[in-house]
Amino acid sequence: MLQPRVGYQNLKDSYLFFGINQKIEAYRNHHPGAHLYRMGIGDVSLPLCDAVIRALHQAVDDQASRDHFHGYMPECGAPFLREAIARFYQDRDLPVTADEVFVSSGASDELGDLLDLFDVSSTALIMEPAYPAYVDANIMAGRKMVYLTAGPENDFLPLPDDRLQADLIYLCSPNNPTGAVCTCGHLQAWVDWANDRGAVILFDAAYEAFVSEDLPRSIFEIPGAESCAIEICSLSKTAGFTGTRLGYTVMPRKLVRQGMNLREMWIRNRTTKTNGVSYILQRGGAAVFTEEGQRQIYENIRVYKENARVLMRALDQAGIRYWGGKNAPYIWMKCPDGMGSWECFDLLLNEIQVVGTPGAGFGACGEGYFRLSTFGDPADTREAAGRLLKLWGKTT
Ligand code: MLT
Repeated sequence: MLQPRVGYQNLKDSYLFFGINQKIEAYRNHHPGAHLYRMGIGDVSLPLCDAVIRALHQAVDDQASRDHFHGYMPECGAPFLREAIARFYQDRDLPVTADEVFVSSGASDELGDLLDLFDVSSTALIMEPAYPAYVDANIMAGRKMVYLTAGPENDFLPLPDDRLQADLIYLCSPNNPTGAVCTCGHLQAWVDWANDRGAVILFDAAYEAFVSEDLPRSIFEIPGAESCAIEICSLSKTAGFTGTRLGYTVMPRKLVRQGMNLREMWIRNRTTKTNGVSYILQRGGAAVFTEEGQRQIYENIRVYKENARVLMRALDQAGIRYWGGKNAPYIWMKCPDGMGSWECFDLLLNEIQVVGTPGAGFGACGEGYFRLSTFGDPADTREAAGRLLKLWGKTT
């Protein structure tokens, strides 16, 4: 008799953002036409930049011409994009080569797919609060997980210790949901720990473009990372590709475990399981790495950073404690008045029509916290900040 994957029985009833959308739908059914100020899921509000749009249009025209048409793309990515991404690293003195870059359809897809490389008997380490897809993908696979707690006591940046036992380490910096950013010292501690034990770090760098202080943006800035880390990146937040879908992964050729080269295994995996990302999207992605593209994406990032400033100012004025927001597009705030995080969600939705994300959705230690995304429409963000201040400014 066929046995479905039992791990699915251990999942929560619904994925965090799916559950939130259901709550929003229910609210809308009772309040037709109500405007909601959406600071929940980290979805961008600004359109793709001009350089990307022009490249996409051009690529569509290529597909209409016998001379420029492309059929199947190379499974690991088009050379023009792999080279552009490698140059993006090399320009920062990081010796990544094009054949260590793999083009993907997005970081979340990739973070799930990469688990194919590791035996199910391996143990994954999750630092909670954590992006819930890390946890769910491992539950689905039937993998054992161990947890480390991130909290104000360690500035939401836990460090390894000798008692810890794990094979796969999820590190996200700038962090979703807390906005904490690892220093070189933190990353070095994890890299040394992983190299000593033969573990592998899955470094989620989806928010690297938001680092504006002197902090690492890539794990490959850390000596020794090339023998223990895989870096997973996304154009979703960097360049507004949430609905367009494009990302990339850097898998160094020095990454070898038990005599097996992970990069070669990944090539074998991709060439079997995918037919590559579409030519049109890869042309759009390559435009991000041009001088013009970089300038334009940072114009959008500046708008999101201004959103962060507006929200942080309101929280400062209301005397509410928060983390993140400076080098990350998320603000992680302590719910005022000892409120629970779903209680806070319901209050903000019902009283001021602001939608955020309850901290408990990122793991038990997120209870009592609430995440605000800074990817919203700027006018909506200003209004939401004003409403938050009106609600809490006088009571806290
Ligand atoms: C989030 O809101 O946590 C992110 O948008 C989720 C994602 O990138 O998939």
